Amino acid sequence: MVMEIRPHGKVGAEILGVDLGNLAEADLAGIRAAFADHGVVFFRDQTIDEDAHIAFCRRLGTININRFFAAHPRYPEIALVLKEPEQTTNIGGGWHTDHSYDVEPALGSVLVARELPPQGGATAFASMYAAYDALPADLRALADGARAVHSARHIFGSRNSAYAALREEGDDGRIGNAAAADVLDDVTHPVVITHPLSGKRALYVNPAFTTAIVGLDADESRALLDALYTHALSPEFQEVFHWQPGSVALWDNRSTWHYAHNDYHGHRRELHRITIEGEPLH
Ligand code: SIN
Repeated sequence: MVMEIRPHGKVGAEILGVDLGNLAEADLAGIRAAFADHGVVFFRDQTIDEDAHIAFCRRLGTININRFFAAHPRYPEIALVLKEPEQTTNIGGGWHTDHSYDVEPALGSVLVARELPPQGGATAFASMYAAYDALPADLRALADGARAVHSARHIFGSRNSAYAALREEGDDGRIGNAAAADVLDDVTHPVVITHPLSGKRALYVNPAFTTAIVGLDADESRALLDALYTHALSPEFQEVFHWQPGSVALWDNRSTWHYAHNDYHGHRRELHRITIEGEPLH
């Protein structure tokens, strides 16, 4: 098999001609380069089981065991991204990037399709490289050099949780460990980062976990974040990925946002996610 990389519309690349369960070093290097450049890479027709999923992720870095998602019953490394037919809320149903609330935010995540609804359940991605590159001069001047506060408490904590509805939906255990989120300290990161792999500049705030801009009062902070989000959510920086059996996505949490569509009520969707540790961002 010869590896081929095809752009995936406006965001990401599709990588053909590889078996993630049996990957040559040269192909791994090609995947790493495409990942750094495109922000998200997609694979089709893979047959990797849970062990192979974990083995592939270990070749990319150290696995981060998720503190808040329910884990696979036999594989603690695998977080379950699950919605049952009778459930109405989904995981990841708002624009975000994973783990920006960590001191060293995750490098990325590898999501494997396990059970899909007959239609719907796509995932949208937005490029924060493209969003930064197209920032109007006035917003760029405010963003460059600024730092932002990121928190997990309002999302995964016991109070004001965005996932409260999900918990109330029969306390199904998909999201847990609120006590750990309650005691997490906020962290700060630059609003614009230099990507550690590509060297490109990327906008690094997100609507889920970023709570404020350091040094601005609440109104100024809200106004700047809203302006950055309105800009970043322009359709020209977005692309949708439609899952099929055997699909795998590897996204970069530093240069993309993602959003799981919740349009398949009455059907089951189960994906397996492994997150890879990252590094401090500058
Ligand atoms: C996530 O936000 O990690 C899940 C994305 C998805 O289910 O498509």
